Amino acid sequence: MGTTTEPTGRSLVIDDIGSLITSDPELGRGPLGIVEHASVVIVDDVVVAVGAAGAIADERIDAGGACVLPGFVDSHTHLVFAGDRAAEFTARMAGEPYDGGGIRVTTDATRAASTAELDRLLRLRLAEAHRAGTTTIEIKSGYGLNVADEVRSLEIARAHTSESTFLGAHLLPAEFEGRADDYVEVVCDEMLRRAAPHARWVDAFCETGAFDADQCRAVLDAGRAAGLGLRLHGNQLGHGPGVQLAVECGCASVDHCTYLSDDDVEALAASSTVATFLPATDFSTRQPYPDARRVLDAGATVAIASNCNPGSSYTTSMSFCIALAVRDMHMTIDEAVAAVTTGGAAALQRSDVGRLSPGSAGHAVILDAPSHHHLAYRPGVPLIRRTVGPLGAGGP
Ligand code: NIG
Repeated sequence: MGTTTEPTGRSLVIDDIGSLITSDPELGRGPLGIVEHASVVIVDDVVVAVGAAGAIADERIDAGGACVLPGFVDSHTHLVFAGDRAAEFTARMAGEPYDGGGIRVTTDATRAASTAELDRLLRLRLAEAHRAGTTTIEIKSGYGLNVADEVRSLEIARAHTSESTFLGAHLLPAEFEGRADDYVEVVCDEMLRRAAPHARWVDAFCETGAFDADQCRAVLDAGRAAGLGLRLHGNQLGHGPGVQLAVECGCASVDHCTYLSDDDVEALAASSTVATFLPATDFSTRQPYPDARRVLDAGATVAIASNCNPGSSYTTSMSFCIALAVRDMHMTIDEAVAAVTTGGAAALQRSDVGRLSPGSAGHAVILDAPSHHHLAYRPGVPLIRRTVGPLGAGGP
C-alpha cells in the first residue's frame, strides 16, 4: 500500500479469466469494461497488457475461468486504535442509539497502548482487509486527540499507506469539555503543524455533538494552507451543513451522506466532490440507508467505503458493503462494484488504482465465482480466492 518494491522486470500473467472487470469502457463491455476469456499481464506492479487468454509471462496465475476485478479501494477507515466496543454494539442492538460518544472510549484505549501494540493491531487489520480484496486503503488518525497521540497515529498509518488522513477534529477530548474553540485552535495550529508531514489529507467530523460548520471550515482552511487535501465527515446522524461545506471548500469527498436534502444532492451533482457512502455504518448503527439512487441519478460521483472502526462499523469487508448497497440502497451491482473501485479511487483523487487497464496498478482480486454479480448474490460468503498485489513488497 505505501511501501515500494524494487523493480524486477519480471512479468506476471493472470490468465484464463472468465470475466475481467477492467473499469475501462474502452476495453470491454458496458461501463465496467468487461472482457471475457481474458488475461492481464503485470510487470513491476503495473498492468502492461489486457488481452485474450493465453498470454505468456515469467509467472502465471490461473484464474480457472473465474471473475477478476480491480482490487478494492477503501477510501475511509479509522484503523489505528486499541480496545474494542463490543459492549456498546450489543447495547445498541438492544435499542441504545449511536451518537459517536464512544470515540472517547477508544481514545482512552489508544492513548494507553504502546506504539508497537498499535502497529501490531493495524497490521492484523490490514492483513484482514487484504484477504478481503482491498489493495488501496485510506487510514485516519482521530483516536489520539492530543498532539503526541495524533502524530503517533499518523506515523503508524503512514508506514503502511500513502493515504493517511489527519482527523484531530474527530471529537472533543474530555480534557477540553466546554472549550471546543480552544481545542480547534490547537488542531489548526500545533497539532496540524506536527501532523502534516505524515498526512496527505485533513478531515473533520461535522455533526451535532462533534464540530460545527465554522469549526470544520477552520480546520479545512488550515489543512489546505498546510498543503493537505480535504475531506469531511458530513450528514451522518442527521441533516446538517456538512455536504454544503464540503462542496464549498472543494473537498475531494464528503463521507456518510446518510441524510441529504434536495439542495445537498444538487450541490454534489454540480461539484467534483465525491459522495462516499458507508453502508456498513448504517447497518451497524441502525441508521436509515442513504438515498443513493437520488444521488446517482442526479449525476454525482459515488464511492463506497468500509469505514472500519471499533464503534460504528467494525468490518473490513468491501464485499459486505457491496451487498448492502445493492440490497438496501438500490444500487445496481455494476454501480456498487464501480463505487468500490473507480469510485474509491476518485474519492482519493487517484487515477492509477481501481482499474485494470494498461498503465494502471496491477492490483487485482480473483473471485471464487464466475461473475461480479456473486458479490451481492452470495452475501457473507468468502468469495475472494486471492488478492494480487500490493500492500507493498511483503504485504502488511
Ligand atoms: O465515521 N463519524 C465519526 N467517526 C466514525 C465513528 C467512530 C467511532 O464511533 O469510534 C465514523 O462513523
